[in-house]
Amino acid sequence: MKRKKIWVLGAVFCTALQLLSCGKKQTAGEEKIHVGVTYYNQSDTFLNQLIACFRESLEEMEGEDSQITLTVRDAAGSQRTQDDQVKELLDAGSNVLCVNLVDRADPSEIIDLARESGVPIIFFNREPVAGDMMQWDGLYYVGADAKQSGVMQGELAAEAIKENGSIDRNKDGKIQYVVLEGEPGHQDAIIRTENAVDTLKANGIALEKLECGIANWNRAQAQNRMMQMVSQYQNKIELVLANNDDMALGASDAYEKLNYTESVLPVIFGIDGTDVGLLAVAEEKLSGTVYNDKEGQAQAMARLSLALVSGRGMEEIEFENDRYVYLNYSKITMDNIGDYLKQDEE
Ligand code: BGC
Ligand code: CA
Repeated sequence: MKRKKIWVLGAVFCTALQLLSCGKKQTAGEEKIHVGVTYYNQSDTFLNQLIACFRESLEEMEGEDSQITLTVRDAAGSQRTQDDQVKELLDAGSNVLCVNLVDRADPSEIIDLARESGVPIIFFNREPVAGDMMQWDGLYYVGADAKQSGVMQGELAAEAIKENGSIDRNKDGKIQYVVLEGEPGHQDAIIRTENAVDTLKANGIALEKLECGIANWNRAQAQNRMMQMVSQYQNKIELVLANNDDMALGASDAYEKLNYTESVLPVIFGIDGTDVGLLAVAEEKLSGTVYNDKEGQAQAMARLSLALVSGRGMEEIEFENDRYVYLNYSKITMDNIGDYLKQDEE
């Protein structure tokens, strides 16, 4: 008898719970999350991998109580095109937008459109200037701290130079270096360069800058710039600091194309840890890179997308300055490349 009572009580309790969760489920059940993404250019290696990770994160998060659709548009390097894409994504019913700006200084049109529709925007990878982020409180940013990546690249290079005296090939006590820089105006270009160079100097490395070439994050452009530099400086270049892996690989391609033997190759450092970048570290084409945590960024974008639409889970997200999420970089050399290659296979 007693047992039955407990059972009955239990049943009542369960029904109450069920009702509660039903109540929740009703709204949740109807929860349709339409994520609209537009990114600056589909030729970008890092961004393609980041968006692939984002797709995976969203798929993992899709559950009984949420249906997620993802629409991705390539702005092909035109801000005008991107503005139109945002309009189209909103018309098609996106209830959260993820925008990788073409021109990070020109988000006003997009912000106006989103605000009119009441649809929040998560900017990612190309950080709007602080003033624009204040235009509306439905704006967020997910990315990484450019300075940290520059410092880490400088540390990697300094460690290598201290460990290996033969990097200073002409034995003049200075390291002759060139820089391959990303797009002008991108937060990750100049800041990475400055901090890498400052960190080398702070570590007591005497430097001589030969040249800084802009290659817009692009492997082929970097190869061209590097070919020019090599023809100008011959065997003088001892270190290449590239703002990303694709440009570091472009530098390596240039030397390969010119059939330079290993004894006259400079050490080359990248940033990103893209699949091709990691492979190049494993093959010792690059002496090191700095991991740009695309999985972490993708996960943060997915969680934030869900939280913004459902109104749940915002408190679990770690914001800086209320609306920014920055993921940490990490250093990669031959010594720990195995961890990253494995991580990638998983
Ligand atoms: C990455 C580059 C990429 C650029 C695009 C940077 O954070 O390191 O590889 O090309 O973002 O915006
Ligand atoms: Ca030297």
